[in-house]
Amino acid sequence: VQTLTVLGLESSCDDTAAAIVRQTTGAKAEILSSVVHGQTELHSPFGGVVPEIAARAHAEKLDVCVLQALDTAGLSLKDVDAVAVTAGPGLIGGVMSGVMCAKGISAATGLPLVGVNHLAGHALTPRLTDNIAFPYLMLLVSGGHCQFLIAYGPEHFTRLGGTIDDAPGEAFDKTARLLGLPQPGGPSVEAEARAGDPKRFRFPRPLLDRPGCDLSFSGLKTALMRMRDQIVNEKGGLKRQDRADLCAGFQQAIVDTLAEKTRRAIDLYLETSPSEPVIAVAGGVAANSAIRSELESVCAEKDTRFTAPPLALCTDNAAMIAYAGLERFRTGARDGLDLTARPRWPL
Ligand code: KG4
Ligand code: ZN
Repeated sequence: VQTLTVLGLESSCDDTAAAIVRQTTGAKAEILSSVVHGQTELHSPFGGVVPEIAARAHAEKLDVCVLQALDTAGLSLKDVDAVAVTAGPGLIGGVMSGVMCAKGISAATGLPLVGVNHLAGHALTPRLTDNIAFPYLMLLVSGGHCQFLIAYGPEHFTRLGGTIDDAPGEAFDKTARLLGLPQPGGPSVEAEARAGDPKRFRFPRPLLDRPGCDLSFSGLKTALMRMRDQIVNEKGGLKRQDRADLCAGFQQAIVDTLAEKTRRAIDLYLETSPSEPVIAVAGGVAANSAIRSELESVCAEKDTRFTAPPLALCTDNAAMIAYAGLERFRTGARDGLDLTARPRWPL
C-alpha cells in the first residue's frame, strides 16, 4: 500500500489549470485542490480561441495556478511525489507552456516528471470520481472531442469510432452563431429547443446508414443554414417559434445519432464480457439534458450502468491530469527533461 500525491498541470486549450490529487492504493482518489483559470474573456472578441493569446496567458498564469493549488491543499512541493503535465494533444504554444513549467519544477526540485495525454485525462476521470474498474466504455463529447473508447488500463484504450468532422459542441456553437444566439451555443440552443417542435424541420441523420460507430456533424449546420435562409427569404426574418423549432430539430438529430451510435458501441463493448458493464460520458456536451436522458434510456435497454463525472470534472481541468499522471506513475512510468509537447497525439 502506497499513498501518492501528484501535482497536475493543464494548458492545452483555453483553460490554465493546476491541481493536486492523492490516492492510497486500492482506495478512491481524493482531489486536494483544483484551480482552473479560464480565458474566455480574452478570446471572446475574436469569436474563437486565438492560439497565440492562449499561449501567452498560460505562460503568465501557470505559476499562479500552481501556487494556488499548493496553498489550497495546504502543501508544499516537498509533499508532492510527482509532477504530471498535459504533453498533448492541443494548441502547441499552450502545451509547451505547461511542459516547460513542469520541467522547471522537476529540474529545480528533483521531482519525477510524468507526461499525460489530455484525452487519457478525460477518459480516466470516471476512475477518479467513481473508482470505476477497467474495462469500461467511454463517450467523450465536447467542443473539441467526440469519440467512443474502451478503457482497458491507464495507457490502454481502443477507439471504436468518433466524429469524422466537427465535434458536437462545435456544431451547437455554430448553430447558435447562425441563429444569433449567445455563446457557448450548447446551453442557448438547448434552452430554445425546449419551446420548439423537433418534427417541423427534417434534419439529416448522418452516417446512420453506415455500419460502425463513426459520427458526422458538419452536415447539420449546412442543413440548418439552408432552412434558415429559406424562412428568411419567405417571411423576411426568423420568428421566435422558427428559431425554437430549428433548435429542437437540430438537437433531436444529434440526440438520435448519438443514441444509435452508443447502442452500437455498447454492443462492441459487451463483447469484451465486462463483469459490471459501465459507460461513462464526459465533456461539456454531456451537460445537455435531452442527450443525457436519451443515453440513459439506451443504457437501461442494454443493462449497462450510465455514469457521468460532475460537470467541473467533465470540462478541462488539471485534477484529471494529476490523476492520469498518478496512474501512470504507479505503473512505473517516468519522463525525462526531453519530454516533448505534441500537438497531435492519438490515444
Ligand atoms: O468540454 P468543454 O467544456 O470544452 C472542450 O470542448 O474541451 O465543452 C464545451 C462545449 C461547447 O461547445 C458547448 O457549447 C458545449 O460543450 N455544451 C453543450 C451544453 N453545455 C455545453 N452542448 C449542448 N448542450 C449543453 N447543455
Ligand atoms: Zn478537453
